[in-house]
Parts: sequence; structure tokens; C-alpha cells
Amino acid sequence: MSSFFAEEGGDWFDQPTPGADAGTVEAAAPAPTAPSAGIATVVVDRDPGVQADLAAKLGGVPTFASIEELAARLTGTPVVAVLGPTCSHPEILVASERVLSYHAELGTVLVADELSTSLLQQALRSGVKDVLASPVDPGELLATIERVGATLQPIAGAAPTTNTPAFDEFGEGAEPGKVITVFSTKGGAGKSVIAANLAVSLAQRSERPVCLIDADLQFGDIAVMLKLAPQHTIVDAVASQDRLDEAMLANLLTVHEASGLLVLPAPLEPAFADQIGAGEMVQVVEVLRRFCSHVVIDTPAYFNDVVLGLIEISDDVLLVAGMDIPNIKNVKIGLQTLRLLNTPMEKLRLVLNRANSKVKLDVSEVERTLQVTAESLIPSDVVVPQSVNKGVPVVLSAPRSGVAKSIEELAGTFIAVEGKRKRR
Ligand SMILES: Nc1ncnc2c1ncn2[C@@H]1O[C@H](COP(=O)(O)OP(=O)(O)O)[C@@H](O)[C@H]1O
Ligand SMILES: [Mg+2]
Repeated sequence: MSSFFAEEGGDWFDQPTPGADAGTVEAAAPAPTAPSAGIATVVVDRDPGVQADLAAKLGGVPTFASIEELAARLTGTPVVAVLGPTCSHPEILVASERVLSYHAELGTVLVADELSTSLLQQALRSGVKDVLASPVDPGELLATIERVGATLQPIAGAAPTTNTPAFDEFGEGAEPGKVITVFSTKGGAGKSVIAANLAVSLAQRSERPVCLIDADLQFGDIAVMLKLAPQHTIVDAVASQDRLDEAMLANLLTVHEASGLLVLPAPLEPAFADQIGAGEMVQVVEVLRRFCSHVVIDTPAYFNDVVLGLIEISDDVLLVAGMDIPNIKNVKIGLQTLRLLNTPMEKLRLVLNRANSKVKLDVSEVERTLQVTAESLIPSDVVVPQSVNKGVPVVLSAPRSGVAKSIEELAGTFIAVEGKRKRR
């Protein structure tokens, strides 16, 4: 990855623009892709303002909130990604290195707010091919893109022509994603743990983006469980309702860097929950499923309009029950309610959490009481509260544990393991 610099003899720092007529390029409002090289170009930055600014300098190229989001849409033909200043963050550089390690067709140019020796070193070690200081000159940027583009190879199977789409923008034409709602009529049953771990596992397996929505609008804790510091929440998505499309929504999602999962967190203040109606929530999910392979939804422990709306549009509803009598009693009531509401029973799948022999409640007894067969049994294990407190899901922090294995098995019923994406 660092060989590019070895070949270039370190002249990246003073930015030569070999063979590029920067003046002409600048004057003639650049085309959407770096012109002569015919290389597709995109902008990656968390900040929509920065995205828009850089994209405008390149004549309006597509933008992505994260490199993981871009990676999910790459098709094998060369792409140069201009990484905006928020990508200078060490954690993002690590994530970008991981993506670059399995996408030889992708080259990156970092535009940094401030150039320092340590940032340069770090960026170069992470596989970034060039670093420019912000505000960047459009001509210089285009010349750099051309130079980086010339080093990229299409990966096997991709036709190296400019007619081949370099990436599948928002998965157009793809099948709508599956909606999986994780529900229980009992608090503390393990909904959030299961939703978060299932979503992370699916994000690792899927070629397309996977999104997790925290629809526990008052007390959602997905952001805490995944140690995220979200810039936007469901409140922003609902506020943008009139203009809501894939690009807008993609900008509001927070990326779980370790897995590439996209997260739409619950409002930061419980009081905002009232602002969100079932119709609005359903619309958000419908937009997400246009470009995600799976949309996983965590819910509160009671029925309300939002929950009922979400259950109605779900392909699968994972009904979570803990292995104790109050849990089973409440889940039984929940099931009766769902039957009364004419919810198709085929989409209900029972997940028994903390299903160890030690709890002295027999699985078959529970199944008989609920008149549903358990699809998934998740053991009780101290690794779960440990992982919750660390903010790292069990499937990542304790992948060999029985809990992680059960969740991976559950994820495998949605995306078989053959499709598993390479992750380090
Ligand atoms: N299989 C399990 N083994 C041990 N502890 C668990 C298990 N599942 C959940 N927990 C613990 O129970 C707590 C409640 O789980 P959570 O997913 O937040 O429930 P819910 O979202 O249904 O209210 C979590 O903090 C976690 O530590
Ligand atoms: Mg919860």
C-alpha cells in the first residue's frame, strides 16, 4: 500500500501536477468524473456541508458519509475517493485501511484541515495515496485524482471501461431490503442486545448496506451499546420528511466503524419521542430498504402506533422472550394481541434468550405454552453485560461465546455464511 510513495520518490508533498493543465480544468467547470483518466470520483465525508463543497469543486460528484458506505457499492471498476477533513480521524483512517485492503480498485486522496507530519505519516501508512491541504485548489485536486486513478486496477470480473458503473449508487434496481423488527412485550428481555448483535453480524455478511434503527424512542440505548456519538437521530430524519430520499437519509446515519453497520439512533431526549408518528417512521424504513439489504429495528417493550406500523411492514418479527414465567406470560399476551391484529403468524419467529438448562424452565414447555416453536436459543452468559458495558457487541468482542454463535446462526438464516464479507 505504501509502494506508491516509494515509486513517487516522496514528491507528493509539494504537489506536482504532471501533464495536467490545472488552469484549463479550473476555468472549464470540471466534469463529474476526473476528465482525461475517465476515473469515477466520489467524495467521502461525514459532514454534509464539506461533502457538498468538495463535490462542487469536482463538478457535482456522488457523496458518501463513510468509506464503508462507499465500499458496499463498489462494483470492481476503479474509483478515486476524495476523503474530506473528518476522515483524518485516526479511527476513520483505520477503517479506510481495512476497506482499501480488499478493494484494489479504490484509491484515496485525503483533504486535511491541517497538514502535520504525524497526520501525513498516519494517512500514508493507512494506504491513502495523497494528502492535500484544505481549502484545496480544484485544479490541483483534479490532477491528483488523475494521478491516483492511473495507478488503479479494475478487479477481476469488472470490465475496465467507463461505461461500467464504478459503483452501484444506492443499489438502484436491487431488490428492496428485508425489514426485521425485534420485539418483546417484556422490558429487559434482550431485544436491544439481540437487535444490535444481529445487525452487526448482518452488516459483516452483506454486500449491501445494513441499517439498524432504534425505535425505542424514549429509552433507546443502541447508540450506547455500540459506543456511538451520533450527530443525527430519528428526529432529524423525520424533520427532513418532505425531502427524504436515499442521499438525505444516508447523510443522517451514523456508521459503526468496526462493522460498517449504519445506525439511525433514537432521539437524545425522551421528550422528542412525541414528535415521531407511525407514518413518518414507516416512510423512513421504506426509504432505507431501497438501498439496504436489511433494516433491523429495535423497539420498546409495549405496543404503540409506531411499533404496530413497523410490525405491519416487517418481513420478519423476532419475538424475544426471556426464560422466566413473567416473560413467558407477557409474551403470551403479546402474541394474543398480534393475532387479534391479524398479524400473519408466518412472520413471527420466537427467540428464547437466556435459554440455559440452569433456569429450570424447559424450552419445550415454553413452546407448548406459547404455541410457537423457538427458532433460536440464546444462552445466558456474563459476556453479554460485559460487552454492553464496553460498548462492543458480543459478536465482535467474544465471537467464540455461545451467545455470539447463536446470533451468528440466527443471522445465517437471513444471509448464509458463504456471502460473508472479508473483515479483519
Ligand atoms: N443472553 C444474555 N445473557 C446475559 N445477560 C443478558 C443476555 N441478554 C441480555 N442480557 C442483559 O440484560 C440486559 C437487558 O437487555 P436489553 O437487550 O437491554 O433488553 P431490552 O432491550 O429487551 O429491554 C442487558 O444489559 C444485558 O446485560
Ligand atoms: Mg432495549
